[in-house]
Amino acid sequence: MAMETTFSIIKPNAVKKNVIGAIIEKFEENGLKVAAAKLAVIPRAQCEEFYAEHKERPFFGELVDFMTSGPVMLMALHGENAITRNREIMGATNPAEAAEGTLRKLYGDSMGENAVHGSDSPASAERELKIFFTSSEMVNK
Ligand code: CMP
Repeated sequence: MAMETTFSIIKPNAVKKNVIGAIIEKFEENGLKVAAAKLAVIPRAQCEEFYAEHKERPFFGELVDFMTSGPVMLMALHGENAITRNREIMGATNPAEAAEGTLRKLYGDSMGENAVHGSDSPASAERELKIFFTSSEMVNK
C-alpha cells in the first residue's frame, strides 16, 4: 500500500469546541501521523483560492465566511493510504449522514460546519498542501 500525505483542516466550529486534541487522537489511533501543523485564521483570498472549485455554488460565500471566521488547525497527515483513510475517519460530508464514531458525526453541526476537511484525491492533496505548507515545513514525514 502506498505511503501518502494528505491535507486536513480542523474547522472553526471544532476549534471552538476545544476538540483539536480529540480529533488528532483519532488520526493517530488510525495510523496517521501529523507531518506538519499550524493554527491560523485563513486570509479570505487564500480561502477563496482553496475552495475555487466551489466558486459557482450557491453556498460559496457562506463557506468562505465560515472558514475565515476563526482559527483553524491546518495539518499535513502522513501514513499508509492516508487520503482514503482520512476520509473514512471523517465520515460523510453531511454530519447527519456520517457513520457512528466518525469525526463529522461526533463533532459536525451541519453540512457547512462539518468539523473537518480532508483532500479527496492525490491531485487535491498536492494542490491543497502547497497552498498552506512549504516542503520544508513537512518536518515529520
Ligand atoms: P469540505 O470537505 O471542506 O469541502 C467543501 C465544503 O463545502 C464541504 O466540506 C462542506 O462543508 C461545504 N458544502 C458542501 N455542500 C454544501 C451545501 N450544500 N451547503 C453548504 N455547504 C456545503
